[in-house]
Amino acid sequence: MNTGILGVGKYLPENILTNADLERMVDTTDEWITKRTGIKERRIASEHETTSDMAAKAARKAIQNAGIEVEDIDLIIVATITPDMFFPSTACLLQHKLGARKVPAFDIAVACSGYIYGMAIADQFIKTGVYKKALVVAAEKLSAVTDWEDRSTCVLFGDGAGASVLGPVEQGGILGITLGADGSKGDLLQLPAGGSRMPASIKTVENKLHTIKMEGNILFKHAVKIMAEAALAVTEPLGLKGDDISLIIPHQANKRILNAVAKRLGVDPEKKLYLNLEKYGNMSAASSSVALTEAVELGRVKKGDIILMDAFGGGLTWGALVIEW
Ligand code: ACO
Repeated sequence: MNTGILGVGKYLPENILTNADLERMVDTTDEWITKRTGIKERRIASEHETTSDMAAKAARKAIQNAGIEVEDIDLIIVATITPDMFFPSTACLLQHKLGARKVPAFDIAVACSGYIYGMAIADQFIKTGVYKKALVVAAEKLSAVTDWEDRSTCVLFGDGAGASVLGPVEQGGILGITLGADGSKGDLLQLPAGGSRMPASIKTVENKLHTIKMEGNILFKHAVKIMAEAALAVTEPLGLKGDDISLIIPHQANKRILNAVAKRLGVDPEKKLYLNLEKYGNMSAASSSVALTEAVELGRVKKGDIILMDAFGGGLTWGALVIEW
């Protein structure tokens, strides 16, 4: 018995921030953003819309799509680096919003690899028979932790949520997973203040230390190498070559990174790389979950397809999985 995805759902806020809008906010151009990242626009949550609000909307759709009831959920995992607050966890807030049973609920802070990590954790409980239905939600309100005066980061990020219901399947399902982390490079992507090391103060606010700081250029090189290695680490033991993969659904950080990864895997990016970052930007953990949901909704994922998911992000963290749909 493997773990399969029984249903998917997504939620994107209505408000669209285009590259033209950003041209009016910082010293940038649509041409620079498009050429360097592939992003054209991103969604921005309203002031009062929280990560758990978005998570709940995506989760309800996934539950409906799975054809189950909220009472059937045995486990709730939320992957986010932009929780509503430190605690209670966004997963507990979500449990309450959904009206789920008093099942285990917890957050994981794995940045962009959070959805893959969440699936990997749920997989352990499902395939051992401990739980029958797990809800894995990846939700981010990155606009709340973005420095809107820093052109090197503010053009990249967006808000949104994706959700999946996982359960046992007799055929297909998750065939392999690889996860990894390298904390020695954590300073390449961080949100420095607000925790126990640097509690919030007037100084931390004045110095904008509650927003994302990123060494994009160095991360770029790590991303290409690590995402390619993670993809091979999960496909090679399964005997899968580029031709066997129906579709790659990666974390959507940068089109140039993803084209380079596809090339290293011997896969034609035009045919087999699912990209939606032009519409949504980088939504951290939510990116791969939203991309999977969208690919399913558009009929790009069919029964029997071999899907490779591949993510890399702050921590550093990475994860890749192969699922037979
Ligand atoms: N508009 C115009 N110019 C800009 C902008 C902008 N928005 N941002 C930076 N520049 C300038 C820089 O100042 C620099 O100018 P200089 O040469 O005069 O110093 C020049 O453009 C080149 O800057 P680089 O940082 O070298 O640009 P690069 O080609 O590396 O692209 C980017 C930057 C898009 C951030 C890229 O490095 C990237 O995608 N990195 C990886 C990000 C990633 O994968 N992060 C991990 C996942 S995210 C997560 O976990 C939440």
